[in-house]
Amino acid sequence: MADLHPRDTQTKVKHEILSKYLDVWGGIIIGGLINSKRKTQKHFIYVDCFSYTGKYLGEKEDSVQNKSAETVYGSPIIGVMALDRLVSFAQKMGVSVRVNSILIEKDKKRYEELINTLNEAGFSNRLVETTDFHNLSSGQIAIVNADATTIPNQLLSYTTQPDTWAFYLLDPYGPSGIPRDFVEKIIRQERHDVMINFIYEDLPRKGGLALKENLKPELKQQVDNWSNAFGSDNWINIARVLSEQDNEFMRNDEKEFAEKRPLTSDEIADLKEHRFVEAYLEVLSSIDSSLTIKLVNLKFSDKERTIFYLFLTTHDANGALALNEVLHNAKLLEYELRYRLQLIKRTAPPPGQPHLFPLQDEELVPPKPEKPSRPTNEEIGKVITDMFSGKQVTKKDILKELANTFFFRSEVDKALRYLRKQKLVEFEGDPRQYTSFTFH
Ligand SMILES: C[S@@+](CC[C@H](N)C(=O)[O-])C[C@H]1O[C@@H](n2cnc3c(N)ncnc32)[C@H](O)[C@@H]1O
Repeated sequence: MADLHPRDTQTKVKHEILSKYLDVWGGIIIGGLINSKRKTQKHFIYVDCFSYTGKYLGEKEDSVQNKSAETVYGSPIIGVMALDRLVSFAQKMGVSVRVNSILIEKDKKRYEELINTLNEAGFSNRLVETTDFHNLSSGQIAIVNADATTIPNQLLSYTTQPDTWAFYLLDPYGPSGIPRDFVEKIIRQERHDVMINFIYEDLPRKGGLALKENLKPELKQQVDNWSNAFGSDNWINIARVLSEQDNEFMRNDEKEFAEKRPLTSDEIADLKEHRFVEAYLEVLSSIDSSLTIKLVNLKFSDKERTIFYLFLTTHDANGALALNEVLHNAKLLEYELRYRLQLIKRTAPPPGQPHLFPLQDEELVPPKPEKPSRPTNEEIGKVITDMFSGKQVTKKDILKELANTFFFRSEVDKALRYLRKQKLVEFEGDPRQYTSFTFH
């Protein structure tokens, strides 16, 4: 039997991001195809390289309250279901699509449990154990018991075909699953969107180890896994710089700050996190300059510390702006779930005893979070007019330039309408993909 456990708040938020983004990702692509003259069938593929068992024993908050656990599904099932929703959506929009999923799990027991979960979820007649992906028929789900990092070429020869869009989830437990050369091959492909789970909590610890001499082979391997993820051992310098004894490599601005008074250990931890994440972002952006990369940190459910970062990569500007909103909402969900769980933990009965007075849902609503302010029409409008004043462009051109901002798609549309009212731009009807915009 595989090791099953309840779903943590951070995993639930990760699943929410996956599910929401798969919906908008597919919706954007189908939306762009509605008026396409080429009526060929389009192919959508979900590849889950690190599937786990596909299920969790209920939510963490249920287990804390000793409530009976209802199965909640993990990423492989979330992916398959999202593609099934896409098929219905495409049918309504008059676009012909086929979908396939590829689910990979290295651990034999978890793999067997994954098959059980897929059967329970009603997918038994769609499963095929194969790496011969080209022979899959529409709707089929390939299941593979293998090390995903050894089969990138088989995966890519399938997902890089014409008229094909792929979404890859790279969600291993640690850095051994995301060597740079494996990640590189996938993220640089056009029409490939990727979500990478970067297990941050492990990194500072391994950074500490990396500074020690004569490590035992298994510890040395754990350090080397991070060097493989970064594609070099430069990351160790960050650990060295910010190890409290040795500030020799600190950047000037950091030194200046540190000279005023010694940094506290929390400040050093924050600085380290910032520098490590910046370094990984640099690794990904150096692979392909046309890639837009978004990221979000998720915290432990019960500690004020980051457990992992999700990095999402796309070549589609529309997708990039949609991600801004998905990730913004994910942080609100994280706030709510952590609040609930912490309150539930404080009022829970001792393990094994029934909960006589469980808190009601309305008692678990957190105080309104301080909402981060969103940019106004004027602010976004100013960014757009500074870029395009005097030019005639399409919406696609505008979004491409805005992909690296943190604006939402809906905010950009509103700002464009606002500019039209201000007589700073002319366009007909709604601001759509190929609408022409004339900026004064
Ligand atoms: C964090 S879990 C995945 C959770 C899952 N994505 C979800 O959200 O429900 C990571 C899984 O990857 C598997 N794994 C680790 N390294 C792997 C590899 N190189 N190839 C395939 N699977 C691997 C582990 O056995 C584990 O089940």
